Amino acid sequence: MKRITVGLIGFGNVGSGVVRILRERKGMLTEKIGSSIDVKSICDIDLSSKRGVSVDKGVLTRNARDVLDDPQIDIIVELIGGIHPAKEFILEALKKGKHVVTANKALLAQYGKEVFAQARDCNKNIYFEASVGAGIPIIKSLREGLVANKFNSIFGIVNGTSNYVLSQMSEHNCSFTDALRDAKIKGFAEKDPTFDVEGIDSAHKLVLLSYLCFGKFVDMEDVYREGISSVSLADINYAKELGLAIKLLAVAKREQDSLEVRVHPTLLRHSHLLASVHGVNNAIYVSSDLAGNLLFYGPGAGQLCAASAVVSDLIDLTQDIKAGMFRPTLHTIQDSAIKRLRKIDEFESRYYIRFTALDKPGVLARVSGVLARFGISIASVTQKERHKAKSVPIVMVIHEAKEKNLRTALGIIDRLNIIKEKSVAIRIEDFEPPQ
Ligand code: HSE
Repeated sequence: MKRITVGLIGFGNVGSGVVRILRERKGMLTEKIGSSIDVKSICDIDLSSKRGVSVDKGVLTRNARDVLDDPQIDIIVELIGGIHPAKEFILEALKKGKHVVTANKALLAQYGKEVFAQARDCNKNIYFEASVGAGIPIIKSLREGLVANKFNSIFGIVNGTSNYVLSQMSEHNCSFTDALRDAKIKGFAEKDPTFDVEGIDSAHKLVLLSYLCFGKFVDMEDVYREGISSVSLADINYAKELGLAIKLLAVAKREQDSLEVRVHPTLLRHSHLLASVHGVNNAIYVSSDLAGNLLFYGPGAGQLCAASAVVSDLIDLTQDIKAGMFRPTLHTIQDSAIKRLRKIDEFESRYYIRFTALDKPGVLARVSGVLARFGISIASVTQKERHKAKSVPIVMVIHEAKEKNLRTALGIIDRLNIIKEKSVAIRIEDFEPPQ
């Protein structure tokens, strides 16, 4: 029986989950694949914290060289996250003839081209299923299951922490701070939770999904990005009254010859499938030409679901090694219809807008007058109760408008002396749910 030897770099939450699964399911996995997967060494700078899994002291090391330089190791699993030294470890592992498994979406989104090229040059494979959607097999599905398809769009809720925070605020009237603290305790958040709540983690994942679907590696700087840190409980509740739920959506969409890639809070009708994705769950709604509209759904963060994806990559690699097979990593072909990236200014959408205005005659006329100058048409308007210093929230929904026109109009409106706070505008997405 073939014995595959693994070296693990990063024995944190997910790393210890991987070790636990490989240990507790050893018999089942060996029987399924006809090979055994053995973790020969585990490297981490912290070897004293409790992980809920016992390992032989002899396999533990603080020195990554013990793993990278070991000629018996077939596969390196990188789970330390961040850019450095993860990038150097992965490149070196490939050069030393080892295959790689990683969950490092930040690294791949920024340096994927270089890392994938290195894997190709070395005839080695790099798998990264855990980097998007944790245990949801979205990468394998796009790479393999949907290989014959061309894609029109991806709409994803791909950050579990943000979705958890928005759900807690919406369902339990919880404050942003309390909800985020909870997400950190539950182990969903990144080391730096700014990555979660400012949409950076979603943008990393969107870069990878766009590459898989459209063959275009979009620079992080070209992904339009807004996070959820400025979403208020008031807007969540007013939107709810309008039958809308707020989600942090990651969108990649082909529009004629252009591709738009954006991450921002988005309002969806309550009846939409993505509106009912609650808590830490992720959902990725893919529109493809042959297989149709598909929805991938499940927990998007957490120890065992992410570890499940890492183990799945290890099994794939084991089969590749046994078959003596090199699968050119991500041999994607750019969709020839895509000639350029679409700027957010060109984007058109319906919007929810909240003005905070003085409660006196003529206010609505002045606001709607400015909107009319930019060709922006109002679908509905509600004035909420007076709450402080004679100012009132005015909640509006507008028909399709160009982002550029709306932003210019809001800039003018916010300078009027009747407006007391910066106005809030949230895009409303009306894309078709799967049939
Ligand atoms: N912090 C990430 C999230 C972890 O909340 O989705 C999974 O990638």
